[in-house]
Amino acid sequence: MATMRTHALTFKIIAECSTTKARVGKMTLPHNIVDTPVFMPVGTQGTLKGMLPEQLKELDCRIMLGNTYHLGHRPGPELLEKAGGLHKFMNWDRCLLTDSGGFQMVSLLKLAEITEEGVKFESPHDGSEMMLTPEKSIEIQNSIGADIIMQLDDVVHSTTTGPRVEEAMHRTIRWLDRCLVAHGRPHDQNIFPIVQGGLDAELRKQCAQELTKRDVAGFAIGGLSGGEEKSQFWRMVDVSTDHLPRDKPRYLMGVGFAEDLVVCSALGCDMYDCVFPTRTARFGNALVREGSLNLCKKAFSQDYRPIDATCACSTCSQYTRAYLHTIAANEAVASSLITVHNVAFQLDLMRSIQQSIIEDRFPAFIQNFFRVRHPDGQ
Ligand code: GUN
Ligand code: ZN
Repeated sequence: MATMRTHALTFKIIAECSTTKARVGKMTLPHNIVDTPVFMPVGTQGTLKGMLPEQLKELDCRIMLGNTYHLGHRPGPELLEKAGGLHKFMNWDRCLLTDSGGFQMVSLLKLAEITEEGVKFESPHDGSEMMLTPEKSIEIQNSIGADIIMQLDDVVHSTTTGPRVEEAMHRTIRWLDRCLVAHGRPHDQNIFPIVQGGLDAELRKQCAQELTKRDVAGFAIGGLSGGEEKSQFWRMVDVSTDHLPRDKPRYLMGVGFAEDLVVCSALGCDMYDCVFPTRTARFGNALVREGSLNLCKKAFSQDYRPIDATCACSTCSQYTRAYLHTIAANEAVASSLITVHNVAFQLDLMRSIQQSIIEDRFPAFIQNFFRVRHPDGQ
């Protein structure tokens, strides 16, 4: 038997729901301790659009995403290494997670072509042909230096069917093994493998079981939230968590709608990321327990309440809906103010999920959550 590696991550389960698969954990990483279930806001070029690291800290955000696809190109691995990694470069001394870059390439660039070697794509900058291999992705992520890094995976659109789904699942496992061999910093960075398998429960199960044979510190569930039916999405999450080890964190990729955070936490997921809360802020949408408020709407022009009177964020303690309405359509500062609130909303939601699991009243929390969102039972 291979000797077990010691990882740059420990995960301790603090509380478990007695009805659902939800749990509260403490995840210790090189740069901080993260309470789970956790939502991780997404940065792109080493910043979260519209928010500074100090504002994230003020909300007690402990972990955020950086982006390999952007950072690998600019400033590039050499510069990042010279700068002492992304933490130093962006003045963020808490935890970071980077994605492997392939998913962004396939979803952003229509021209990407996947072979056994890696993801081939045309550079959007100079049109030259580039290849992102599992080894290259890990090399870039090693130079960025995030606490958690992702394997390169073969992602197919969530509604794809047929043999391509199975091929992508098996290739994802082969690519994981290449990533683990290429990993140069196992002492201070953790590689997470990614469960793929489309909307096929049997493939999801096989994939989770195969990945579990590898000595890794945590797992991700990918290839979902791409337009499939909610019931199928939740079922795939359910089978995936059923076949992952209880004592390791589970990261559900690209998921961040409030309903999904609640339901998927009940299905045993511990970590989430999504651009939705920050992106929607830039369109003037503020997240609230009932859903969202589009502050561009005229209905808010004389509404002198904060977005949410119970929210402790700096936006809600200082600005009214009417003020935000007035500036929403044309001021960058309005996007910033709404972004701060939306990130605060996500982090507050996760803290209330944690608290209700600790007090073993998560089922009642879920009921109340959906009652507030759908008061007429719709
Ligand atoms: N982000 C959202 N879904 C995925 C996925 O399936 N794979 C990767 N690498 N990133 C994602
Ligand atoms: Zn607020």
